[in-house]
Amino acid sequence: MPEIVWDATLYDKQHHFVSDFGADVLQWLAPQPGEYILDVGCGTGQLAAQIAESGAVVLGSDASEEMVLKAKASYPNLNFEVVDGTKLPYQEKFDAIFSNATFHWIENQNALVEGLFKSLKTGGRLVAEFGGKGNVKSITDAIKGASEKLGIADKVLTNFWFFPSVSEYSKLLESKGFEVEQIWLFDRPTKLIGEEGMYVWINQFAQHALKNFTEKEAQDIKNLAVEILKPNYFINGEWMADYRRLRVKAIKS
Ligand code: BEZ
Repeated sequence: MPEIVWDATLYDKQHHFVSDFGADVLQWLAPQPGEYILDVGCGTGQLAAQIAESGAVVLGSDASEEMVLKAKASYPNLNFEVVDGTKLPYQEKFDAIFSNATFHWIENQNALVEGLFKSLKTGGRLVAEFGGKGNVKSITDAIKGASEKLGIADKVLTNFWFFPSVSEYSKLLESKGFEVEQIWLFDRPTKLIGEEGMYVWINQFAQHALKNFTEKEAQDIKNLAVEILKPNYFINGEWMADYRRLRVKAIKS
């Protein structure tokens, strides 16, 4: 995972749409009382808490210590631990694994999927949603465009997320032993909160795109990227981000 500084408080305040939308994916999970479920990339724990309301027993895991601390403080009756998604230490332990808005951050997809497979009991299910092919393309294009306009494009990084197509991801899952039961790539334009919403988004989520720049250069790129995006993505006083999701249900059969 690229090094990114997560601000758990900002995440809950400004980017709570991540877990709001995640509630929709829970319908694919359909957790049952007594099931043992792992939430990979649990963030501040809201979705783990919703899963627990079904009567399932949830373990939330996240690579960010700050997120896990916040999750533990908010939901002291649930279990959370700091775990790197590419090093899942579990063996045939879970009836289901759930993940929302996490897999696109993980560089070593082979290690992730192998770990997911190993962690599930036979017959267990993986239900995950994350960025799919074309996700936030307008934003990455605007960051690239801004750096080009400023004559500093050689230092920009924009290929650090994993946004696979349906066929690419199905092949990956199948190559590790999963049977893909349902998979869906869909546009989900996502409202960003406040007039500064796009700037705040870039600042939080694309910080590593700009890690090779000086602070001044990064600032200029962010401001210009926002200007480039404004005519098409700031509509009636609200920012929209061009999210595309890949939602999948796969079985360890
Ligand atoms: C997403 O949820 O699609 C996403 C979030 C942050 C950066 C990139 C993608």
